[in-house]
Amino acid sequence: MMAIKSEKNGPLRGEIDVPGDKSISHRALMIGALAVGETRILGLLESEDVLATANALRQLGAGIDQDGEIWRVTGRGVGGLAEPSTVLDLGNSGTSARLLMGILAGHDFPATLTGDASLSDRPMERVMAPLRFMGASFAARSGGRLPVTVTGAEQPLPISETLKVASAQVKSAILLAGLCAPGKTTVIELHPSRDHTENMLAHFGVKIESKMRDGGAKEITLTGQAEIAGQEIQVPGDISSAAYPLVAALLLPGSDILIHNVGVNPLRSGLIDTLVEMGASIEIVDPRKLAGEPVADLAVRAGSLTGVSVPGSRAPSMIDEYPILAIAAASAHGTSVFEGVGELRVKESDRLDAIVQGLKAFGVDVEETRDSLTIHGTGAPPKGGATVASRLDHRIAMAFLIMGTASDHAVIVDDGSPIETSFPGFAAVMNGLGADIRDVTE
Ligand code: S3P
Repeated sequence: MMAIKSEKNGPLRGEIDVPGDKSISHRALMIGALAVGETRILGLLESEDVLATANALRQLGAGIDQDGEIWRVTGRGVGGLAEPSTVLDLGNSGTSARLLMGILAGHDFPATLTGDASLSDRPMERVMAPLRFMGASFAARSGGRLPVTVTGAEQPLPISETLKVASAQVKSAILLAGLCAPGKTTVIELHPSRDHTENMLAHFGVKIESKMRDGGAKEITLTGQAEIAGQEIQVPGDISSAAYPLVAALLLPGSDILIHNVGVNPLRSGLIDTLVEMGASIEIVDPRKLAGEPVADLAVRAGSLTGVSVPGSRAPSMIDEYPILAIAAASAHGTSVFEGVGELRVKESDRLDAIVQGLKAFGVDVEETRDSLTIHGTGAPPKGGATVASRLDHRIAMAFLIMGTASDHAVIVDDGSPIETSFPGFAAVMNGLGADIRDVTE
């Protein structure tokens, strides 16, 4: 346990970079491992989650080396990974576990996946069910939890699957298994989720097409058993990490910051749309493209916010941002309602409960149902002066530490170590802007 304290300090000023996008970093390593030859990755997120993916891929026979700022992946070709001699430990990382299950479903050998207490409590049946149709078999702990032994299919079958939950991880697992199957694998999403797997596969030359159907569903079709060759990849900054300094700058009067090189893929940027609806001053500066992904700088200025209603249809584009949005909502004038957020119950923690308990500890008036959250903001940041449990959840830890940067009394998070899973250097980046976030472990 590493307790961290956040205290109000001067306004936030300056320019920062945030670490590389976590979703894109996982995919660059994984798809690089399935390509023939060398993939060079610049800007890879060097966090615990991504390093868990790198280690697992090494155990499966891919070459992965760091050479200064460049990561080099020597791929084994589609279907060319090898049986690992030990268990693959994915730590806290759901993306590593679920996407690797997809890859392993197309490889004819057994491999056992495990993870920490948080990951071992998360549902895996949503990924295993479609992968069974493709010919893989699974031995899981009760309730479809890790540890799981995957035995891939000798001849994986292409399938057409309509997703039951809006999940980029489930979609990606099916597409990655489909890469090893002959013919066309199709995924239909009723609520489109982040498309980094599709963009990255296209960047590697895989034939993959997406089309919108009437009513807003999206159909993605991939042609499998392609030969793919190593590529150069530049990973943009993670909007899910940028969200923390961004909200801090909105809340602390007089703040004015610029965040460089942030991925602003529309399937990830629902938080920006929502904050702008709340009255935030966020300017998208110099929009451009980086390896097929839209990127921009974000100029953010403090100002007062008003409550907002966020429809469930927007949830996939900001699924990881609700904890920090809840902090903004608690500080806004009036009531905010977040609909259709039941998926938050199966993230690194039950995030709805963690948000509710955390805000209540600071006296915020908040109500939850099974899949919605209502927060009554007072027009000023909550007063602080309490300790919040991070529950092995990086985003809960960071969200409440950001609250502390604007609260009158300090906020303590009982364990800040989960922040290493996605945002190494979080406190240093924030303190460089003028925040005061430090380790208070005796
Ligand atoms: C991710 C997808 C999302 C998100 C997670 C990363 C990805 O999960 O919460 O942090 O990289 O595909 P779901 O697919 O479970 O919604």
